[in-house]
Amino acid sequence: MAALRVAVLSGCGRRALLSAPKTIQTPTANMSMSSLLRKKKFVLTALGLATAGNVGLALMLHQSVKASDLELHPPNYPWSHAGPLSSLDHASVRRGYQVYKQVCSACHSMEYLAFRNLVGVSHTEEEVKTIAEESEVVDGPDESGEMFTRTGKPSDYFPKPYANPEAARAANNGALPPDLSYIVNARHGGEDYVFSLLTGYCEPPAGVAVREGLYYNPYFAGQAIGMAPPIYNEVLEYEDGTPATMSQVAKDVCTFLRWAAEPEHDQRKRMGLKMLMGAAILIPLLYYMKRHRWSVMKSRKIAYKPPK
Ligand code: HEC
Repeated sequence: MAALRVAVLSGCGRRALLSAPKTIQTPTANMSMSSLLRKKKFVLTALGLATAGNVGLALMLHQSVKASDLELHPPNYPWSHAGPLSSLDHASVRRGYQVYKQVCSACHSMEYLAFRNLVGVSHTEEEVKTIAEESEVVDGPDESGEMFTRTGKPSDYFPKPYANPEAARAANNGALPPDLSYIVNARHGGEDYVFSLLTGYCEPPAGVAVREGLYYNPYFAGQAIGMAPPIYNEVLEYEDGTPATMSQVAKDVCTFLRWAAEPEHDQRKRMGLKMLMGAAILIPLLYYMKRHRWSVMKSRKIAYKPPK
């Protein structure tokens, strides 16, 4: 049998293809291609317009059923950790923990945080051990089946102020103080909202009566909240000497709550920076490989030349 001969036209020399690309003429193919492209463009444009219209309609409907005129929306505050590459202010996290411990923990639990979580974030290991030892934990059962109390260890979770939600309600006029572990992720506006809530208590406007045991706060849904104003100027004395103004205290506790809800915050942004740096090297490289090296391989023509 005669051997088949396959000639690779202009694939053998990259230069040959690059220098003489005009010799390949396919006028008919070009025409059908361009008309196809035009149709595709038209369909895509129509699709895009339809999608934009639908999104606009959905947004309008969403706005019209929202009672947004009854709520005061928190402004955007310039948090030091707001930037795409900014880390949390860890001195502020540490002060925020102090605020939580001395003020908020009287009513609010943070049941998803353990003392050991503070190590390397706001406190050293020794400090965390001392903090943990200040609490008493019910443990057991022991060999005789009895529960017993012991001093806390870094692996223990933050102690709860109330044994159960019913006890919490009973002590707060029927209002349940929510767990604060994930509160900044659980409310629209995040730390902006919590900051505004803590600093936004004021006299109710004329004509608005607030029931006994509730407090007027324009940022809270319904404007009457069951939490008495928890912070004011000099509500505590910071161990690092920072003046404890009301806004400073609110800002610190919000930074702490952001860390609590998102302990991976700094790591996430560091990963993002690494990704950006990796992409800055990888994307030009990929562009070069695709456009200038691989395109030659891709556009070469392999033809079958029958034996004579
Ligand atoms: C005296 C008890 C008490 C203290 C102290 C207290 N809170 Fe509250 N907190 C409550 C109660 C009760 C509610 C529930 C209010 C309601 O549902 O009407 C609440 C609700 C909240 C809410 C949720 C509001 C919402 O949108 O549902 C946040 C956030 C909050 N507190 C933060 C704090 C922070 C931060 C501190 C510490 C600076 C603190 N609280 C101190 C009793 C307290």
